[in-house]
Amino acid sequence: MTSPVFSPLVLPCGATLPNRLAKAAMEENMADIGQVPGPTLLRLYKNWAEGGTGLLITGNVMVDGRAMTGSGGVVLDKHSEIAPFRAWANAAKHNNTQVWMQLNHPGRQVYAAMGGDVLSPSDVAIDLGKHSHLFGKPRAMTQQDIEQLIQRFADSALKAEQSGFDGVQIHAAHGYLISQFLSPLTNKRKDKYGGSIKNRMRLLIEVIKAVRAQVAPTFAVAVKINSADFQRGGFDADDAKVVISAMNELAVDLVELSGGSYESPAMQGSTADGRTLQREAYFLDFAKEIAQVATMPIMTTGGVRRLAVAEDVLAQGIDVVGMGTALA
Ligand SMILES: Cc1cc2nc3c(=O)[nH]c(=O)nc-3n(C[C@H](O)[C@H](O)[C@H](O)COP(=O)(O)O)c2cc1C
Repeated sequence: MTSPVFSPLVLPCGATLPNRLAKAAMEENMADIGQVPGPTLLRLYKNWAEGGTGLLITGNVMVDGRAMTGSGGVVLDKHSEIAPFRAWANAAKHNNTQVWMQLNHPGRQVYAAMGGDVLSPSDVAIDLGKHSHLFGKPRAMTQQDIEQLIQRFADSALKAEQSGFDGVQIHAAHGYLISQFLSPLTNKRKDKYGGSIKNRMRLLIEVIKAVRAQVAPTFAVAVKINSADFQRGGFDADDAKVVISAMNELAVDLVELSGGSYESPAMQGSTADGRTLQREAYFLDFAKEIAQVATMPIMTTGGVRRLAVAEDVLAQGIDVVGMGTALA
């Protein structure tokens, strides 16, 4: 019998993933001069495409060149040349694979050495003990900063579509800017973007709506969120369910569940609040529970290396199995 891993999945936008395996986003730090894709990235994605996963999600592409997680990062904004991005999409798609670009703004998770503008919902700096000084000191975003940020996500998504990508994934996990808005530990705002989870998720919802308004209905719009931050007092599974329920009302094609941040690297299998994760398929217990409220397909990523584990993930009601390290 053929493994269910190799069955196709039709997404709400009408696109079909040829199978249930996805390469999760991994920041490559391989950009050419000018923060654009070049031969090294093209070769990498051609190899990954040949590997045969139904979906390739690029490493995070920055929506603002003033906020970078690394010097080899890719930036796509409204001024970017399309040609290098078109070449990247072509290289990744040559084996009938769906290819989505992950869009990100790191917010406060920026090394001080990178310089630039360190934005966050509030001026709460990263606490990594003696390593905290390595990160920039954030300033609280103004209403105008928020509007510009939303526009940047929409501009980058449109450029991704024009370049030939099949979709985008909005990065709202791992303690980056949108995730900073979602978490009560980093979002201390008193305006409509802070306080209740309804307010803390407002930025994400506005980003999704702005992106959807720019791209064709057949273009996939996905979101990566934490199932929990794994920090005491942080974003938790109940918050995640509220966010998923709100996204049910929008045209979201896939939600990837992950977890953690720089302060609590659950996505690497270790937590700051002492909770234990499964040895493989780290977030499966959380994902199973959260998936119950979702009407869109759900993907979970973290710790999967073996076919039997991937099959177990699908058997628990998850639609797509994400893999990072195993494919690198
Ligand atoms: C080198 C590396 C870079 C990563 N970069 C990103 C990224 O750009 N965006 C993202 O959402 N996750 C990123 N991740 C996290 C992965 O997508 C994934 O959630 C995590 O590695 C757990 O899955 P795994 O155990 O299969 O590797 C990265 C992981 C690694 C190992």
